[in-house]
Amino acid sequence: MLWLRAWSFLYVIVTVTLDPELKKHEEMFFKSLGLSSKPSPVSPPPVPSVLWKIFNQMMGGSVAKKKPDLCFVEEFNVPGSVIRVFPDQGTFILPVPDNFHPTLCLEKRLFFNISVMEREERVTLGQLELRFSQNTYYGKVFDLRLYRILQMTLKGMGKNKMSRKLLVAQTFRLLHKSFYFNLTETCQSWKDPLKNLGLVLEIYPKNQGSWKSAPMNDCKEIQTFLFTSLLTVTLNPLQCKKSRRKRSYSQIGFTASNICKKRRLYVEFKDVGWQNWVIAPRGYMANYCYGECPYPLTEILNGSNHAILQTLVHSIEPEDIPLPCCVPTKMSPVSMLFYDNNDNVVLRHYENMAVDECGCR
Ligand SMILES: *[C@@H]1O[C@H](CO)[C@@H](O)[C@H](O)[C@H]1NC(C)=O
Ligand SMILES: *[C@@H]1O[C@H](CO)[C@@H](O)[C@H](O)[C@H]1NC(C)=O
Ligand SMILES: *[C@@H]1O[C@H](CO)[C@@H](O)[C@H](O)[C@H]1NC(C)=O
Repeated sequence: MLWLRAWSFLYVIVTVTLDPELKKHEEMFFKSLGLSSKPSPVSPPPVPSVLWKIFNQMMGGSVAKKKPDLCFVEEFNVPGSVIRVFPDQGTFILPVPDNFHPTLCLEKRLFFNISVMEREERVTLGQLELRFSQNTYYGKVFDLRLYRILQMTLKGMGKNKMSRKLLVAQTFRLLHKSFYFNLTETCQSWKDPLKNLGLVLEIYPKNQGSWKSAPMNDCKEIQTFLFTSLLTVTLNPLQCKKSRRKRSYSQIGFTASNICKKRRLYVEFKDVGWQNWVIAPRGYMANYCYGECPYPLTEILNGSNHAILQTLVHSIEPEDIPLPCCVPTKMSPVSMLFYDNNDNVVLRHYENMAVDECGCR
C-alpha cells in the first residue's frame, strides 16, 4: 500500500498533469493537503515578514543540532502546526456624525473569512494587526474601540441597537508601528461561520475638552491608510500526536547497489507546475525507496517479522509468493509556505513528505 502510494506520488512528479487519471490523483493529493483544489492565486498578497522569519527558523532548524518542534510556534510561544494570515474583507462605513458619535474619524467593519480552517483545528492564537501608514497624523492621539458583532440588525435601526460586545477600548498615539490585539477566544468561536459576523473598529480623535469641539479634519482621510490583517496559529491534534516509539538499528556497512535502500530524489515544485502557489521552498529532497529484498532478510533491511516469514515462504514457493517490497519505513514532514484557495498566506508542515529510511515489508 505504502509502496503504491509512494509510487503514485512519484508518477505525478515525473509526468506533468496531462492524463485525466493523473489529474484525479493530483486532486486527491490536494484534498489530503487540506486544499479544495490546486490554488491559483489571483492577487496574492505579500508574505508577512514574520512568516518568512518562522519559515526560515524551521528550515534552519533541520540543519542545526536541534530538530525543530513542528507543533510549537516559538515566535508566539504557543502550540500550533498551521499559521495563516487572513486579509480583511470588511468595508468602510461612512462616518456620519450624530449625537452618539459626534466626531467619529473612522468606522470600519472588519471581516476575516476563516472558514478554511479544518474542524479539528484548535485556535491557539488569533492576533489582529492594525497599521497606519501615513505621516499627516504622526504623533496624534486617538481613541480606539473594537467591537465584536454578535447579531446583525436591520438597516436604519440605529447603531446603538446593533448587538455588539466591546473587546478593546484604548487611547493610542499614531506612530509608525503596528498595534496588535489578542483575539484568540473570538477566533475560536468564529470557527462556527454563523458566529463570524466580524468586528467593528471605531476611531475618534482624542477628546480635548468636549467631543463636539474637536474639528472634523483632525482625522480626515485616516481610513485610506489603514491596513488590517489577522494572523492565526492553529493546532491540528491529528497532525501533532506524540511521536511514535523509535526503533533503533545498528548500522552495518552494507552497500550492494541493488539492495533495498533510500535513493535521492529532489522534487522541484516548478517541474510539477506548483510554482504559482508554493512560495517556499522551491523544492525539497523527497527521496524514494528502491531495491531488492533478497533472501535471507538481514536486520539491515529493517524487515518486519511478516516480511521475514514471507521471504521464507517465497524461498519454498517462489512462483506463488513474491518477495517483500522495499518501502519507506520512516518519513518526515516538510514545512511549506503557500497561498491557499482564498489567497491567504499559510505556513504549515505536511507529514510524510520525505523518505528518511527504507525497509522490506
Ligand atoms: C468564505 O470562504 C468560503 C470559501 O471560499 C466561501 O464559500 C464563503 O462564502 C465565504 N464566506 C463569506 C461570508 O464570504
Ligand atoms: C490571549 O488570550 C487568550 C485567551 O483569552 C489567553 O489564554 C492568552 O494567554 C492571551 N495571549 C497573550 C499573548 O496575551
Ligand atoms: C534501517 O533503519 C536504519 C536506522 O533505523 C537506517 O539507518 C537504515 O538506512 C535503514 N535501512 C534501509 C535499507 O533504509
